[in-house]
Amino acid sequence: MKKLVLTLAALGLAATAAQAQGTYPTRPITMIVPFAAGGPTDVIARIVSDNMSRTLGQQIVIENVAGAGGTTGITRAAQSQPDGYTIMMGHMGTHGAAPALYPNLKYDPAKDFAPIGLAAGTPIVIVAKKDFPATDLKSFLAYLQANGDKVNMAHAGVGSVSHSTGIFFNSVVKAKPTMVAYRGTGPALNDLMGNTVDYMTDQIVNVAPQIQGGNIKAFAIATAERSPALPNVPTTKEAGLESYEVSAWNAVFAPKGTPPEIVAKLNDALVKSLNDENTKKRLLDLGGVIPPAAEQTPAALQKLVESEVARWTPVLKAAGATAE
Ligand code: MLT
Repeated sequence: MKKLVLTLAALGLAATAAQAQGTYPTRPITMIVPFAAGGPTDVIARIVSDNMSRTLGQQIVIENVAGAGGTTGITRAAQSQPDGYTIMMGHMGTHGAAPALYPNLKYDPAKDFAPIGLAAGTPIVIVAKKDFPATDLKSFLAYLQANGDKVNMAHAGVGSVSHSTGIFFNSVVKAKPTMVAYRGTGPALNDLMGNTVDYMTDQIVNVAPQIQGGNIKAFAIATAERSPALPNVPTTKEAGLESYEVSAWNAVFAPKGTPPEIVAKLNDALVKSLNDENTKKRLLDLGGVIPPAAEQTPAALQKLVESEVARWTPVLKAAGATAE
């Protein structure tokens, strides 16, 4: 009899879980953004989650949890209930560069998540304050090399995109600036516009409007082709620095153990968002790159994470990037 009761209880639990998955979501979803509001990851999160909320029929609420180059927020998200009600916007820093820089990282980017899908590619732009005494990349590099740590570079914390692409840049051009950490490149950009920090390597979606507005200088974009959003900004190759070619990306993840049906529903909503004309326009206007359909799957994101961790680890170690 006892066995029968246990079986019925187990069946009941399974039915409840299945029923919950079938009706998921029945309440708002939290999307953790591991950087300060207003930066590139926050902006991409708000753009793509807007249409996702409509598809899912529940609001996706952005929660900014900044610190430690994004690893604080991602750690919190990785340890949350795998029930589909906490997801996160990670990126090339939190899910690519971080393991090389944090020996005690509390998560494994390739093992501790249920990948949902890529949100946007984000080319890296080399930007400086408007008053910086250089008019092109060549004179910018000469100034950096001549002035060492008198120049300061902004970044969003060890392991962030701006930090890892900045370390890579400095190693390529042999610059040794003073590094200034922020809780995101949104706040960093404010100081760049206030002429209180000198330069940074940042994601196009953050800096494009200010470059277009003439409020900061852009010396080059580190992609093979110019961006349609910044047609007057030369590529690093055109500007004579072809050894510096780098792009970042932002992507949605859920905690490991999130049921496949819920992963599928979240991926479906993300893909619909990336095919929504308004969402696409908002991302493209900021210089974001919409991933092709084949790269919008959870499996494609898993492969990307594995390849990015493998790619960035030797680059950062060769650049002498220090751990936490
Ligand atoms: C941000 O949203 O502030 C950036 O993604 C931070 C970074 O990784 O540089």
